[in-house]
This record gives sequence, C-alpha cells and structure tokens, in this order.
Amino acid sequence: MPSAVTRTTVGIVGAGPAGLMLSHLLARRGIDSTVVDHRTREEIESTHRAGILEAGSVRLLTETGVSDRVLRDGRPHAGIELRFQGTSHRIDFQHLVGESVWLYPQTDVFVDLADARERDGGDVRFGVTGTRVVDLTTERPGILFRDAEGAQREVRCDILVGADGAHGVCRSAVPEAARTLFYHEYPFAWFGVLVEAPPSAAELVYTHSGRGFALISQRTESVQRMYFQCDPDEDPAAWSEDRIWTELQARVRGADGFALKEGPVTDRSVLRFRSLVCEPMRYGSMLLAGDAAHTVPPTGAKGLNLALSDVRVLAQVVGNAMSTRNRALLDDYGPRALRRVWRAQHFSYWMTSMLHRVPGSTDFDVRRQLGALRSVVDSTAGSAYLAESYTGGEIHHHTFAGRT
Ligand code: DHB
Repeated sequence: MPSAVTRTTVGIVGAGPAGLMLSHLLARRGIDSTVVDHRTREEIESTHRAGILEAGSVRLLTETGVSDRVLRDGRPHAGIELRFQGTSHRIDFQHLVGESVWLYPQTDVFVDLADARERDGGDVRFGVTGTRVVDLTTERPGILFRDAEGAQREVRCDILVGADGAHGVCRSAVPEAARTLFYHEYPFAWFGVLVEAPPSAAELVYTHSGRGFALISQRTESVQRMYFQCDPDEDPAAWSEDRIWTELQARVRGADGFALKEGPVTDRSVLRFRSLVCEPMRYGSMLLAGDAAHTVPPTGAKGLNLALSDVRVLAQVVGNAMSTRNRALLDDYGPRALRRVWRAQHFSYWMTSMLHRVPGSTDFDVRRQLGALRSVVDSTAGSAYLAESYTGGEIHHHTFAGRT
C-alpha cells in the first residue's frame, strides 16, 4: 500500500513535554510542525513522573501562552530540607538566590501542552506504531509510521527533531561512528510510591541515612509522593504496604521525632537511573532534545527542566536557520544546549553521590559524605550553590516575553 505523504517544516518524534513545547514555540514563530508519538494521550497522562519546575520553566509555560494553570494549581517552594544524622537543615532558596521552584507534576505540564496544541490547531498524532526516521543526511528527512487507524503514513520535513526519550528510535538512528555517548551507571535505583495521606512536611525532604537515601515529596493535600533508594533489580511486588512504611520511617527517623503520616500505597514502581549525554546533538538534518539526547538521575529534578530549556534554544536556532535559509546555523544548537546539560549533569551527580548509600562503601566514604553535606548546610557559598543549581542556575536571568 502506498503511504499518504504530508509535508511540514519540522517533524517531531515524541509528544512529551519537549516535543509539544517545541511545536508550540515554533508555531509562535509561524513555523509549522507535525508531532507523532507511539503512546496514546491517556497512556502519557497516567504515567507518574517528577514534580519540580524551575521558575524559568514556569515562565516558559505562562509567558508563551501555554497555560497559567501552574500558577493556580502548582505550589511555590522557597526551599528544601537536607536531612542527615536525624536532623533537618533548611536550604532557603529565596533568601540565597531570590528564586523558588514550583511543585507541579510533569503530567500536568503534559496536559497543559497537549491542550494548548489542540486549542491552537497543532498537528499532534498519538498512538502511532512502527515509527522510523529516514534520510537524515538529506535536506528532506522523513518520519514513517502507521497512524492510530493502521494506515501507513509518511511525514517529510526540512528539519527532524528526536524528542522521543531515552529509549526512542531517534538516537538509535545515529550511526555509532557519528556520535559519542558519555555515561555513568549507578549501583542503585529509586523505589517510588504514591500514598494517600496528608503531607508530612511543607517542603521536600532529601534524606541521607545509614539505610540509604529517601525523598519525601508532595502532590496534594491528600496524596503524597515518596521515594527510597533500592537495588536496581528490586521487585515492586515484593514490598507490602507495611514493609514500605517501615523502611521509609526508619530512613527519616531522628532525635527531633520527625515521622511520616501513613496511608494506603496506591502506586509503586522502580526507577532505574543513569547519567548519559549524546554528543553532538545533531546528525545531519536531525536534532535531539530532552531525554533522547541526555538522561540525568532524578536527584535534583533536572530532567524535565533540561528538556524545556533544550527546546527553548532549539526553537530559536530553527527560527534563525529557516529565516536566513542557512542550515549551517543548526550547529549552534548543541553547544548552546550542552553548557546547561553538563552543569545539570554535574549537579545531579553531586546530589546523588552526596545522599545515597553506595554498596561496599567504607566508613571513610560515609564520613566524607557527611562532610560534603556539612559543607552545604554550614556554608553560605555551599548552600548558595545548591540553591542556584536547584532553582535553575542562569536561566532566571532571561525573560521570555515576546522573544520565545
Ligand atoms: C520529585 C522527584 C524528584 O526526582 C525530585 O528530585 C524532587 C521531587 C517528585 O516527583 O516530586
């Protein structure tokens, strides 16, 4: 059967936050795009992901007209707590760097973006199958797929963007000789739970303990999100509600009497993690964005924020390349995005290493970790580094209005 062929300027694989935000920003510049994703909208909406937005990400959503729902349904957090040796230490972001982050789950960011694309007549196709990207070294690359009804389709474009996540088809389509992968594996993972209980703390609590890391996060007045370090091969089914609460309570316990408010566990999953960067972020007419180009461990909540900052740069670069008809300008994207990517790689690695129990670590290693935590909480420079990186580093100096 012949394929139905359509044309667009930018073909985007992946309708997560990176792909949809890019499509939105391009539309504001008068550049048309088509987005495809193998997941259905319902599947994406029922996947639990991280929950922290930098102020710059919030401004990108609100000032470019995606939605201002984050300002009503999200909550500003002006700091976090670092907890070790049974004591909490507050890192006051507002005091240190004059910024807050926002608790607003990635699922809500996705819903806002998908709604905005629908409202503005964007071309987004969910539930496609058999996606392939072809002719990447030509000026007419293509996306081949079957649509949700099973019909073979072909989208031809000037520029193709791979925003299809860490396990997508786009990065794998780059020949090994044309890219370098930089990566680091960690000998642990996170066990993530959603629980029906009132909040146990007003802000996020990042906890170092002899039993390993734990993170107490929030969602609503009646639903909380918590994580604890586990073995990468841990089986979620092996953890009863009782066992989960016993472990979490043991990790946060301390002389101050801090204890978690318990309730039914409604969702449990194991998040494996690693650090990875693919360079360059361009192969011929294809550019990679978000998790397709780089993965960070979840400690520090940079993944979604990096994806959004990638596509902010990408939309500008594509805009410049199209308006000057100069494809060589596409080379500006990677180096500009990578500055921020590697800063975030370092920050996520640093937070992870400081807070997790490494199998086989010595007493020296643990004492040194506590020294690292002391160097944060007892030093204004140390806590300012954490505050600046957590809230978004340099991005808050930019203003998006009218430019993005
Ligand atoms: C959440 C996840 C993170 O990885 C993090 O660092 C902070 C919060 C969350 O899901 O709430």
